[in-house]
Amino acid sequence: MTVDFDTRAAALRHELADELERTRDLRSPAWRRAIERVPRHLFVPEFFQRTDPPGKGTLWAPVSSEHDTGRWLDLAYRNETWVTQLDGHIAPRDAAGPVMGEPTSSSSLPGLVVHMLELLDIADGMRVLEIGTGTGYSSALMSDRFGGDVITSVEFDPGVAANAAAALRRAGYAPRLVVGDGLEGVPEHAPYDRIIATCSVRYIPRAWLDQVRPGGRILVPMTGWLHGHGLALLEVGDDGTAEGRFLPGTISFMIARPQAAPEIGDERRSAVFRALAGAEPRPAVVGPDIRDDWTGLFVAQLGAPAAQQQTIRIDGGPWVDYFIDVASGSAASLTPEPGGGWSVRQVGPLRLWDDVEAVVGRWRAAGSPPQEQFRIRTNGKSQTVSWCMP
Ligand SMILES: C[S@@+](CC[C@H](N)C(=O)[O-])C[C@H]1O[C@@H](n2cnc3c(N)ncnc32)[C@H](O)[C@@H]1O
Repeated sequence: MTVDFDTRAAALRHELADELERTRDLRSPAWRRAIERVPRHLFVPEFFQRTDPPGKGTLWAPVSSEHDTGRWLDLAYRNETWVTQLDGHIAPRDAAGPVMGEPTSSSSLPGLVVHMLELLDIADGMRVLEIGTGTGYSSALMSDRFGGDVITSVEFDPGVAANAAAALRRAGYAPRLVVGDGLEGVPEHAPYDRIIATCSVRYIPRAWLDQVRPGGRILVPMTGWLHGHGLALLEVGDDGTAEGRFLPGTISFMIARPQAAPEIGDERRSAVFRALAGAEPRPAVVGPDIRDDWTGLFVAQLGAPAAQQQTIRIDGGPWVDYFIDVASGSAASLTPEPGGGWSVRQVGPLRLWDDVEAVVGRWRAAGSPPQEQFRIRTNGKSQTVSWCMP
């Protein structure tokens, strides 16, 4: 007996909902109903599947409803993130086979999407602003449950936004869709009771504080150029500031496009290498392996918030970690020593690694509290992250 397409899709949604309950991301019957109703396959008619062939780095293989019908439908309902755009312009239909690239749009992991929606605690009648429409799937879940008239979603990329608008129409949902920079919010439909960002930010923009009612909440993945991530939930106060905490778990979202790290460029990189080669080394107190610790990396990033990291090997020498801050023209390198440990060299007006060691040292002295003991406070001009002593 052949099972027809719609029956199969409904069965897959049911299985997905079961799985998300098992992982405890999905907790409430109301969100379960939304997961069971929203046809994710309409939002991912084509996507890239990550492959890591030996010796070739990461490649992205296109999958589409047209070329891989049976497999595509099953994959569409997996609890997986499906990347839908690379490098800001490459769509799966542009790729004849596996390609390289940086993901710039996706349908996020359904488990993470529903986990965030549960955390957001939206009630009937609340107005919600979503930053990063992407494929439109998360806007569809919210519209399914609360109606499109209370949901506004903003997407930076006009092509991505057009695809999302078409998918939402086809699925029968009508949230307000806006093309623009979500870091500016969408003032024409404010005030909101909730803001949810599905791209991450280095800092919370003033516009969001202005557009959320006092007592309203902002749920936002935070990141930096060292790729230290954390999910923050803040409440907006009467005075236009917002305060909150970081939540447990390890999440990562692509960074808001206007906050992407500046290009380093070959010329600047070569100049940095030359300058560092002439700098006096000292033994490192904190090694670059701090990046292997989820919270440690986040803390290191607080110490050097404008630094980017690259691991490079020159002429068969050791793998060296470079930290480069383009804006200030500062850099640090960490070279492994034959007997263990690392030596650090620094150039420029900021001593990047001194700053990293200072903040990591304070964090370690406090007992290395995990990220869920961190708090964040912002007035839209300056933002403070601190940890509570255990
Ligand atoms: C992870 S995807 C969103 C996933 C989406 N919620 C879904 O369910 O498919 C992140 C999206 O944020 C968008 N984005 C990046 N920076 C943005 C900005 N400043 N304003 C609005 N959208 C932005 C990206 O273009 C991308 O489509």
